[in-house]
Amino acid sequence: MITSRLVVDRDFVVADLDRRVFGTFVEHMGRCVYTGIYEPDHPDADERGYRKDVMALTRELGPTIVRYPGGNFLSGYNWEDGVGPKAQRPKRLDLAWYSVETNQFGTNEFIDWCRELDIEPMYGVNLGTRGPDEARHFVEYCNHPGGTALSDLRHEHGYAKPHDIKFWCLGNEMDGPWQIGRKTADEYGRVALETAKLMRAVDPTIQLAACGSSTHDMATYGAWEDRVLEHCFDQVDFISLHTYFENRHDSTAEFFGNIDVMDLFIKEIAAVADSVAARKHSSKRIMLSFDEWNVWYKARTINDLRKPGWPSAPRLIEEVYNAEDALVVGGALITMMNNADRVKTACLAQLVNVIGPIMTEPGGAAWRQTIFYPFSQASKFGHGRVLKTVIESPAYEAETFPEIAYLCAAVVDDRASGTTTIFALNRHLTDEMDLSIELRGLGVERTLDHALELHHPNMKAVNTREAPLTVVPTTNENVLVDGEKLTARLKPGSWNVIVTTAAKRG
Ligand code: AHR
Repeated sequence: MITSRLVVDRDFVVADLDRRVFGTFVEHMGRCVYTGIYEPDHPDADERGYRKDVMALTRELGPTIVRYPGGNFLSGYNWEDGVGPKAQRPKRLDLAWYSVETNQFGTNEFIDWCRELDIEPMYGVNLGTRGPDEARHFVEYCNHPGGTALSDLRHEHGYAKPHDIKFWCLGNEMDGPWQIGRKTADEYGRVALETAKLMRAVDPTIQLAACGSSTHDMATYGAWEDRVLEHCFDQVDFISLHTYFENRHDSTAEFFGNIDVMDLFIKEIAAVADSVAARKHSSKRIMLSFDEWNVWYKARTINDLRKPGWPSAPRLIEEVYNAEDALVVGGALITMMNNADRVKTACLAQLVNVIGPIMTEPGGAAWRQTIFYPFSQASKFGHGRVLKTVIESPAYEAETFPEIAYLCAAVVDDRASGTTTIFALNRHLTDEMDLSIELRGLGVERTLDHALELHHPNMKAVNTREAPLTVVPTTNENVLVDGEKLTARLKPGSWNVIVTTAAKRG
């Protein structure tokens, strides 16, 4: 048994939590779109071809914003191919994933899907094979009310009301050697600036994110962000971060250290952005868009990334997630909540089949992967202000990070309802944790609304089509509330969500 302590105070606030941190990502890759969210021949498809079972699971998952249409796919995409009558849409070679893209699903189908689910769309413009001209045309097509060739074309396509897309990504991973149309930081910074200027001229209400490094490990990491922002600082609102966690040495303890590396990553990029601001004598603060993150290392061989013969919607990177992956995803969510002052948007990559929390079979079932649960619970209960946590916990050392506290926690407080939610990981693999929590100034007459845990004695346990309920949340009976003080016994290797409401606050 280990003991830990967690203290928060109602007056010590990190920031209001931007609900867009609970975003996800739909790329034209593998089976994310085709046989994922869209499958007209599926018995459970609606009249537009959307899978209703996937829509129901997406609702339950609770994403607030969805990035689209890529990813690496974006850097070779012509948005014009995906609008207008479906019979006239061209089939194209997708050089990012060596597939044939049928374009039967495009911008308007995606917007309809988002609106049906009440999810905000986040769009990318192609800065790989294309540039500022196409980007400004695309914003005109989507957001301009009417009376111009492209906005009238949208009307002709059946969409009189502008899509009003607010958040736009200026390309994707432009530093990566794998990227179609890869650029140096100076080349990209210049084109991002000029593209942003034109897009804002068409619609001044949009927010724009410039590409940061593709990973924390890139050789140009840090220097890339510095040069890019040197060019486009005045025209962008966000810099993007991407990360895929790996259990490189099959060590769960080391794997957990990725959560601390993510925290470092966020703080480093905020520091780089602020140093550019300092050089420019600017008080503007660039915010962070963690618009691709997840666990991804098992389905990463060349055979997972590419299938021979230019197939359409092949099975690519269909990672099967286990119990320890779910804990790392929970830890990543905790980290982003604790950095709510800088991380304003984030996207779990991706939504369905392709490293997704939801899996489907073509013509068949859909089910929840293990990582579904921490995300759905964080989105459901993560409302309000994030409070600064003071944590006392024993720690361990690993190759991934020098000091890893067994307790990893975030506290979110919703002043309006009086509900405070504690998200906590016990990263000890063999010992239970006795956790004492003090919610100072948050009200003494409290009820315990939920005490949920996700734990499986076998860290490699997975959910499959045949056994979809192997790793599921259960109730933790060992949580007690006594005024402002709570005690909880957390299982070894567990994700926990404690929701408590104060009747009255002082
Ligand atoms: O999400 C899968 C791929 O990973 C994306 O297309 C790309 O942006 C990243 O490298």
